[in-house]
Amino acid sequence: MPDNGPVTSHSVPAEIADETILRSYKMRRSRIGATRQTALDTLLARFAVPEGDGLLDLAALFGPGVPVVVEIGFGTGTSTLAMAEADPGTGVLAADVHTPGVATLLLGLDQYGLDNVRVLVGDGRQLLQQRIASASLAGVRVYFPDPWPKGRHHKRRLIDAGFAALVADRLAPGGLLHCATDWEPYAQQMIAVLAAEPGLVLAPEGAQERPDWRPVTRYEARGLDRGHRVRDLFARR
Ligand SMILES: C[S@@+](CC[C@H](N)C(=O)[O-])C[C@H]1O[C@@H](n2cnc3c(N)ncnc32)[C@H](O)[C@@H]1O
Repeated sequence: MPDNGPVTSHSVPAEIADETILRSYKMRRSRIGATRQTALDTLLARFAVPEGDGLLDLAALFGPGVPVVVEIGFGTGTSTLAMAEADPGTGVLAADVHTPGVATLLLGLDQYGLDNVRVLVGDGRQLLQQRIASASLAGVRVYFPDPWPKGRHHKRRLIDAGFAALVADRLAPGGLLHCATDWEPYAQQMIAVLAAEPGLVLAPEGAQERPDWRPVTRYEARGLDRGHRVRDLFARR
């Protein structure tokens, strides 16, 4: 979304900027225009995941019996917005650490009048670990996680054996993990760790073509321009 207003400074929460912890993301110094800064200042409170350390009360957040999915690393929120609009009966907890993208999503949520999305400026893996009860989610979505192509960085990749076990625990029976990547070696890593996780059943076809209901994301479009093959993976609890 173009944002031609004056550029202002903005801060990120200290806990996600702590570089002594091995992260699946790298904090980027980025400038933010006035429109998006205002979105952070005025809209985040309305859409934010409630602060705290304890388990979230998903029924209180979205309504009793409403299925809830977690999306980790939404970027600018292309998939978050489109999928939330197409499926108002599902609650979405959307996490990213990149505040300009958070602001873009907030502007979209406000513009489309969506009330089934809550946004976390923070680490989505920690959200799963600390704030989500076992067997409580209908889904987890991870679209185009940072590929960390260099060998010495592979340990930063979000989708590893520990993540697969964590997701398997947090999904309700029948719940679905949906990942997508345009980085073939990462697709192979995903297939290996998801197939090895006893709490998940990887779709037998392994990585597939993009389903119509997942919109092309901003990052994905860049990969397609470079000739990368995009693959979607599904693993069910
Ligand atoms: C390559 S981008 C893809 C963004 C978006 N899904 C898309 O396809 O356009 C990966 C995003 O994941 C975010 N990210 C990486 N690790 C994360 C984590 N543990 N929790 C939340 N966000 C994370 C990054 O900040 C970045 O915005």
